[in-house]
Amino acid sequence: MGFRVVVAGDIAGFGYKETIKKDLLEDPRIDEVMDAGVGEGEDIDYPHVAVRAARMIAAGEADRGVFICGTGLGVAMAANKVKGIRAGTAHDSYSVERLVLSNNAQVLCMGERVIGRELARRLAREFFDYTFDPESHSVPKVAAICEYEED
Ligand code: RB5
Repeated sequence: MGFRVVVAGDIAGFGYKETIKKDLLEDPRIDEVMDAGVGEGEDIDYPHVAVRAARMIAAGEADRGVFICGTGLGVAMAANKVKGIRAGTAHDSYSVERLVLSNNAQVLCMGERVIGRELARRLAREFFDYTFDPESHSVPKVAAICEYEED
């Protein structure tokens, strides 16, 4: 079974969000692509779209997300406010790999004002090359993150 993915972004991330959505729709590893906004010409601040999309993952409607804003920072901060969500900003291949393999993140965040379009497309593709190993030494560390949510 393939991934169900939600894409999201504010107006500063709209271009990359649309490009990556198109790529994901053509990716045989992806079963479904949902778009949590913004729509064309819509100006909703990044916390609202990021939380809306993150809640879709927390609710089990999507498995993973790719969120874009100007820097990739704001959408990550907002998404991480949703219980159970691990989102990180990654602008290089190694970080994308570790985001999944070390941190079991469901959400990759990137900044349209920070990296080029082709790199963003490549990193979004690579994000789906990895799945977290439930036997790995990273398991207790991720579990510790989850425990702090209960504090
Ligand atoms: C624009 O509002 C910009 O600040 C936003 O897209 C993002 O970069 C915030 O982290």
